[in-house]
Amino acid sequence: MSPPSAVSPALQRVLAGDYGVDDLAGLLADGDPERDAALFAAANQVRAEHVGDSVHLRGLVEFSNHCGRTCQYCGLRAANKALQRYRMQPDEIVEAGLRAAALGYGTVVLQSGEDAWYRAEVIAGIVQRIKAQADVAVTLCLGERPREDYALWREAGADRYLLRIETSNRELYAQLHPGMSFDHRLACLGALRELDYQVGSGVLVGLPGQTLEMLARDLLFLRDLPADMVGLGPFIPHPGTPLAQAEAGRVPTVLRMVALTRLLLPDSHVVATTALGSADPLGREKALQAGANVMMPNVTPRAFRALYEIYPDKICTDEEPEHCRGCMAARIASLGRTIATGHGDAPRWLHSQRH
Ligand code: 5AD
Ligand code: FES
Repeated sequence: MSPPSAVSPALQRVLAGDYGVDDLAGLLADGDPERDAALFAAANQVRAEHVGDSVHLRGLVEFSNHCGRTCQYCGLRAANKALQRYRMQPDEIVEAGLRAAALGYGTVVLQSGEDAWYRAEVIAGIVQRIKAQADVAVTLCLGERPREDYALWREAGADRYLLRIETSNRELYAQLHPGMSFDHRLACLGALRELDYQVGSGVLVGLPGQTLEMLARDLLFLRDLPADMVGLGPFIPHPGTPLAQAEAGRVPTVLRMVALTRLLLPDSHVVATTALGSADPLGREKALQAGANVMMPNVTPRAFRALYEIYPDKICTDEEPEHCRGCMAARIASLGRTIATGHGDAPRWLHSQRH
């Protein structure tokens, strides 16, 4: 641990659980490197005490880049006509999921744009087939769908669902998501919770118009959800979007968000995201040392990877799944950490199951 002198009054209040938005916003600001070091050290210690030294690996299958939405920041937005679109067939998705299991990943994450082509029954069938053939947890990340779809997938065996709030500020949310509703987003998160999914959420850090106070409130939102898993990445401007000329989110701000998330949600999983690794070659390692305990190695077949271009210069687009497996193992070992075994359910959710 860092010397107590470096622990600012704001950090002391966070550690004591008696803090306000101003404390969080103050800790998110650029300032004193010693203050950052104390924040990261405190988060690293809480991570070690609550979720241990092992890092959970989630094999990510990006199975379709078709999307019906027009989120201003995202390269998959329907209005980006320059992007070549693809859909993996159900058999291919199952195969990719089983390949992830064969690589030793305890979780398969199935992600796509909001693609209505995959009817709810089709997704349910894919989940069932993967769960029947491999001892893995299945996480879905398919955006907003009717509650019945979420219910059907839960019955089919899906364990978790990822749906980022992106920003908890209503006005900013409305600006960035034409035709979407903040309240509907909240309703989806509520439905997932009620259906007893482990719920992952998260925030895009550094969006145009986003203030440190908004980010501080995002942290409170994630705490109060409460999120079983949190993914935080820097906004990276995509040339095929209206935000092409906007400034990118900054890695230090994301790392401070990672650290504060760990302090506010000690028993949740926090991801060292691919976007962080894309913005900074050591971004994921830095996150793992500032409170994170999960990584999401890509298992999408190489032919499709470059087309899942949510943001430019995404890492791992030239790699095969086996390569990312070895790369991640080396990165984790370089930090003196280990790879977790088992499904890696969220401790907070496991506790809630012991009625
Ligand atoms: N930069 C970084 N992350 C992005 N996402 C979407 N567009 C971008 C971008 N330009 C993130 C969103 C979404 C996740 C799948 O990708 O947070 O939830
Ligand atoms: Fe894919 Fe490093 S994790 S190349």
